[in-house]
Amino acid sequence: MKSYITTPIYYVNGSPHIGHAFTSIMADILKRNRQALGYELMLSTGVDEHGQKNQEAAQELGMPIEDYLDMRCAEFRDVFDKLDVTYDYFVRTSRDGHKEAVAGMEQSIFDKDLIVKKNYTGTYCKGCEEFKKESDLTEDGQCPLHPTMQVEQTEETNYFLKMEPFRERLLKHIADNPDFVQPVAFRNELKQMLAEPLEDLCISRPKARVTLGVELPFDTEFVTYVWFDALANYLTNIDWPDESYAPWWEECEHLIGKDILKPHGVYWPIMLMAAGLPLPKKLSVHSHWVGAGGVKMSKSIGNVVDPIEVMDKLGVDALRWYLARHMRADSDSQISVELIAQTYEAELNNKLGNMLSRAAKFARSKFDGKLPVKGELTAEDEALRQTVLKATAGMGEWIDLADIPARTQAIITAAAELNEYIDKQAPWSLFKNEDTRERSKTVVYVALDCLRIVMEALQQVIPASAGKALATLNVTEVARPWKPELDRLPGGTELGDIQPLFPRVQ
Ligand code: MSP
Repeated sequence: MKSYITTPIYYVNGSPHIGHAFTSIMADILKRNRQALGYELMLSTGVDEHGQKNQEAAQELGMPIEDYLDMRCAEFRDVFDKLDVTYDYFVRTSRDGHKEAVAGMEQSIFDKDLIVKKNYTGTYCKGCEEFKKESDLTEDGQCPLHPTMQVEQTEETNYFLKMEPFRERLLKHIADNPDFVQPVAFRNELKQMLAEPLEDLCISRPKARVTLGVELPFDTEFVTYVWFDALANYLTNIDWPDESYAPWWEECEHLIGKDILKPHGVYWPIMLMAAGLPLPKKLSVHSHWVGAGGVKMSKSIGNVVDPIEVMDKLGVDALRWYLARHMRADSDSQISVELIAQTYEAELNNKLGNMLSRAAKFARSKFDGKLPVKGELTAEDEALRQTVLKATAGMGEWIDLADIPARTQAIITAAAELNEYIDKQAPWSLFKNEDTRERSKTVVYVALDCLRIVMEALQQVIPASAGKALATLNVTEVARPWKPELDRLPGGTELGDIQPLFPRVQ
């Protein structure tokens, strides 16, 4: 069983930001989930190195383009490493093999007479790196996605891919495969984009304007349009056109933000159809993060959440947890350093970290450093155990992008019950009295066994912290395929050192 998950490849005209961190972390969570189910995984993430925007960013810094790209590429890689994103392949579109494969794809489409050369006058948005129709622009004639980057009037001769011959076929594919675009709101948005005849897609840029790109194989005066080249990464990462690409490609799922639905939902499937290749299995689309109060993040407002700053202050898992837990499927979600800190304190620190340290410290001091042996279980013990099993079951099943918040929410709700349980049972008081001392052992056993299940489940979301917690519980190996299972820790197990999981931050 294979699963191939891709993230967008990010423009390198600036440093990695929270949006980039988000999609790549979600991809990593899905990867860990599917690995837990026993799948073989391929996760690609990386950078989109071509196009006018990147070219101008290098010019602004006065750096030679290769040096600039190397610098940014190292920066993105480093951030993803720090975020515990376990990518299998880090994409760089400047790689020779990628460029050759892109040129091969273009030539094959050109040979089918699906590419035409013509003169075009239009409005260009550098932010989107695409031509815009009048109806795509705001009232004052700007791109709604990049209001601060003036659109440009451009008149050029370029090469265009014929799109309209494929529109009906694509609509039929969407109708026949309800899972092709998820969630349904974005599927409907895509159908809307395909409701009217499609204009030809400009797939080249004259070298006079852009040099940073893949040279067209049939006209060396031009480079390939950055989106055409970038989308092809999904194939070139898995060695297309080598036949070995096929088993991965069949299972390919693209994670994308809603901003790039059109290139992925319209351009990419049509490029593939034109090249005679199968379509990816699925497009999983997410909404965006905005600042607190629903305001778009911007440097001038000062509400930009820098992933590095959050990691330095609160640790990587504070960020991973917030992003996993608070993204809403159907609308934009709010983020700020304060919101992340609050969630960190209320959930990770109060419900998980304290719980582990309290129970494990107690076991270490009163039960000879060991997990006690449990006695007979009460109805309350059984109820808690069932709650935890139910709440964690979702991590033992296939998770789709849109499921992540609900599955993490279920776990933290169970952790809250676990806290209530231990407060109410108060093993520390039970221990003081000879008559109830045995009972205190059972309570500590039940609590720590439940916490083990919670932490095993959370390995998919906050792997570093969950790993530390499991080390304290002396769990060295987690079975695959993973399912929440009671009593896997025998009473008498030696407990490991207690490492502070989520230290309190000022
Ligand atoms: N280079 C293209 C993608 C080519 S893929 C073949 C591109 N790059 S980008 O740097 O602009 O990254 C866009 C992606 O970053 C979004 O689709 C999304 O995955 C992520 N995000 C950017 N801003 C975001 C938010 N505010 N919130 C959530 N994710 C966002 O487009």
